[in-house]
Amino acid sequence: MRYYIGKVDGLRSSQIIELGGLVEILVLKHNGKVYASQKECIHAGASLARGIIRDHCLVCPAHGWAFNLETGIDETGQAEPLEKQVMFPVSMEGDDVYVDF
Ligand code: FES
Repeated sequence: MRYYIGKVDGLRSSQIIELGGLVEILVLKHNGKVYASQKECIHAGASLARGIIRDHCLVCPAHGWAFNLETGIDETGQAEPLEKQVMFPVSMEGDDVYVDF
């Protein structure tokens, strides 16, 4: 299902957004693009809300796994080969931003 999450200029660099009263996701804005991730880290469930973005990756504050913003793959190589962070598709229509969940 597609959810409207706001105007691109109104989004912060990192924020938690609730989709349809069902689930909270982490929305990131980096270099003018918007990304959406499961808010809990796949490693041990830490909140990624305080993660930082480095080298186009979302770095978990707990143990430093670094998830590529496009693919969700842990670029530190510590995750199992098929294990990756869930990144939700983001689309834009003009200034309006949508997430598919
Ligand atoms: S909980 Fe995120 S790297 Fe461990």
